[in-house]
Amino acid sequence: QKLDMELASIEKAGYPHFMLKEIFEQPKAIQDCLRGRLDSTTHQITLSGLEKVKDKLLAAHRIIIVACGTSWHAALLAEYWIEELCRVPVEVEYASEFRYRNPIVGPDDLIIAISQSGETADTLVALENAKQHGATIFGVVNVVGSSIARLSDSGIYTHAGPEIGVASTKAFTTQLAALLLFAIKLAQYKQKIDTATSDTLINELQAVPDKVQEILNSQLEKIKSIAHKYVDAKDFLYLGRGYNFPIALEGALKLKEISYIHAEGYPAAEMKHGPIALVDENLPVLFIATKDKIQEKIISNMQEIKARSGQLIALVSTDDTFVSSMADDSIEIPEAHEIIAPILSTIPLQLLAYYIGIARGCDVDKPRNLAKSVTVE
Ligand code: AGP
Repeated sequence: QKLDMELASIEKAGYPHFMLKEIFEQPKAIQDCLRGRLDSTTHQITLSGLEKVKDKLLAAHRIIIVACGTSWHAALLAEYWIEELCRVPVEVEYASEFRYRNPIVGPDDLIIAISQSGETADTLVALENAKQHGATIFGVVNVVGSSIARLSDSGIYTHAGPEIGVASTKAFTTQLAALLLFAIKLAQYKQKIDTATSDTLINELQAVPDKVQEILNSQLEKIKSIAHKYVDAKDFLYLGRGYNFPIALEGALKLKEISYIHAEGYPAAEMKHGPIALVDENLPVLFIATKDKIQEKIISNMQEIKARSGQLIALVSTDDTFVSSMADDSIEIPEAHEIIAPILSTIPLQLLAYYIGIARGCDVDKPRNLAKSVTVE
């Protein structure tokens, strides 16, 4: 027992919890995911796994992405990216639904499976079924040699390194990095992206590890104080639009699992169709309000919450004094292309969940009722 405890403390490398260590490992993990695949001098992306299924991919009339939990949130953002950049229809499926609902799948389909562990039972069985119907499986997996990796015809390893904390942190951001590489490369294959845009995205993707580090360096104290302010909240609402909607879902999931505070993520405009009824002076509402094409829309959603006395927390682009002045509390995200910014916005949401969880005395590395990998139904 004593030896186990000492070993765990060595593995945590001075951090109090694996979750915090893994949050701080993200600059390196994302760099490891990009290494050898992205060359910002030549602006080339090399993905041998994608090369292997190139013909299938180019022939596919649609892509289906299957996953669970946080990996499902990565799938949702990948849908937005792939449809925007590659103009191919994408369907995102919860593996647990897909496996039981007799979906229409055949040899013309390419299925992307996203899984950190590569052992999630629902995802694995969903893929086995799809494979029996002749579909091609492309795995986006962290654990090398895992069941889903072995079942896949081809794929990309995310190279996040071992993730011990039950909450997915670096596994998620590396999934996003891998999926964005996939989307840009496919757009190039399909000649749907011009050189200027792909060069910009490649340069910005290369800059992500440094920008993540910048957030970790500059926003930590502010996030800790926001966590203390809202530690007794009963509920939380996370809102975002477009590329930031899946990040709102992920932020809410992180808070739920780590702090046991009830939290919901919604597309910001959808709140008018129900959740707005919850808003009063006791409800913290977190907006992802970084600069993008639809920022104006999110600002008007923020005004609607303010008018109902909700407490506003906003993720804003650095120096966006207009939006930060509207909010009760704000966290700054370095300027980035709107396709890239959601990767950055993930980081403060992980830290917020972590510090709220700690302040509430929760076991953040092993939240109650949860397993790292759900290998049973
Ligand atoms: C995330 O914080 C969760 N622990 C959970 O939702 C997880 O992402 C899900 O179980 C899927 O796991 P996988 O990526 O290993 O398949």
